[in-house]
Amino acid sequence: MENVQNFISENKDRFVEELFELLRIPSVSADPAYANDVRKTAEYLADKMKSAGADQVEIFETAGHPIVYGEKIVDPNLPTVLVYGHYDVQPADPIELWDSGPFEPVIKKTEIHPEGAIFARGACDDKGQMYMHLKAFEAMNKHGNIPVNLKFMIEGEEEVGSVNLGIFCKEYKDKLACDVVLLSDTSVIANDTPSITVGLRGLSYIEVEVIGPNRDLHSGVYGGAVANPINVLSQMIASLQDENKRITIPGFYDDVEDLSDEERAAMNKAPFSLDNYKKSLAIEDVMGETGYTTLERTSIRPTLDVNGIWGGYIGEGAKTVLPSKANAKISMRLVPNQHPETITKLFQDHFESIAPEGVKVTVSPHHGGFPAVTPTNTPEYKAAEKAMEQTYGKTPIPQRSGGSIPIVALFEEVFGVKSVLMGFGLNSDDIHSPNEHYGLFNYFKGIETIPYFFKYYSELKK
Ligand code: BES
Ligand code: MN
Ligand code: MN
Repeated sequence: MENVQNFISENKDRFVEELFELLRIPSVSADPAYANDVRKTAEYLADKMKSAGADQVEIFETAGHPIVYGEKIVDPNLPTVLVYGHYDVQPADPIELWDSGPFEPVIKKTEIHPEGAIFARGACDDKGQMYMHLKAFEAMNKHGNIPVNLKFMIEGEEEVGSVNLGIFCKEYKDKLACDVVLLSDTSVIANDTPSITVGLRGLSYIEVEVIGPNRDLHSGVYGGAVANPINVLSQMIASLQDENKRITIPGFYDDVEDLSDEERAAMNKAPFSLDNYKKSLAIEDVMGETGYTTLERTSIRPTLDVNGIWGGYIGEGAKTVLPSKANAKISMRLVPNQHPETITKLFQDHFESIAPEGVKVTVSPHHGGFPAVTPTNTPEYKAAEKAMEQTYGKTPIPQRSGGSIPIVALFEEVFGVKSVLMGFGLNSDDIHSPNEHYGLFNYFKGIETIPYFFKYYSELKK
């Protein structure tokens, strides 16, 4: 292990250089204009996977973006870890809010990252975190005895719902057989407060359209007599939450798993400063479901949010117009036991039922995903815990996250195994936002911790 760690410290500059190369390719999965770059990213990765020492490296075509696969089978008697990650990124816009180019990585120091952080789209989510695994593997392959069998599966469609990866997992179930899945696509509480993610929320994502009159109208001639789709949509959306910020869709909470008072007390012991939270967001106060703390609102409670809304005149100056339609994109984060299709159906029925006469409402579901929870009494959790103890000098705290990685529930369904969500990012790293970044501390800490995970996992799994 000493050799492995030495190799890592001797190669830090190169590890950053290589990540820079990766970050320069704009692998935006949502926008077809970037399809070629997405492919180039897959090719770059396949190349690096090979040179790190993986066998059977292959780029698998899908109906969408390709999947990069590689493996190192050391001994069939050893446990097998499937490492998952994603090389696609979110769109960079609004681009004018970036201080430097989203695909021109640079290192800058920040208050939270005094040692410097890499600024680029995907730096944290998930190129930086995924690439740690290839570098940890390279180090182990050079200087250690790899104590497990390894399979790498890196996809290019996580940010658009992982539909084709789901199909791939079912088709190649035998090839992908494993004892556990390991991924780094979540966060720690702070750099001096390590944590392991033990829950992810599910997702139901919906687009709605409200259509009124057959054309845009003069808002003086017709206003007040004809339903205005933007007014109507605003009222419909506002009615989806009551004064306690509870979601009003009938049946929405039916399947929600309530935590015991003890469980809630335990999770609220996690270090969290509401003052710092508000300060970091420049808000006077937080807002959410009555009776729950901010930690609970962002992990064990379901939510409903408008992600985008548009319609009418938004150009310069004033145009007096009563628009013919209005649209919105709405997401609901789901918690254990809630079923994305059931929730989507409840939303659809309710939203259609509250539409007033005089407008037509259409509800179109987008991708969704199941929530996931992982137990803490397994060899894989214990291995991650010991690995982080080793490198952080502190026992990591188990914590549920508010984000979603829908494929994790599918891994459990198809492979029958749990996942270890050993992420190293920070919630303040601005993933999906302008100026996304990833701390050098976090990048190297990840690379250093991963080999220990394999060591302890192989010992505990026996
Ligand atoms: N890595 C994130 C999920 C995440 C972020 C989990 C931070 C925990 C902490 C992932 O890439 C992501 O953004 N997922 C999407 C869902 C997907 C279906 C688009 C999300 O959570 O919005
Ligand atoms: Mn991610
Ligand atoms: Mn993401």
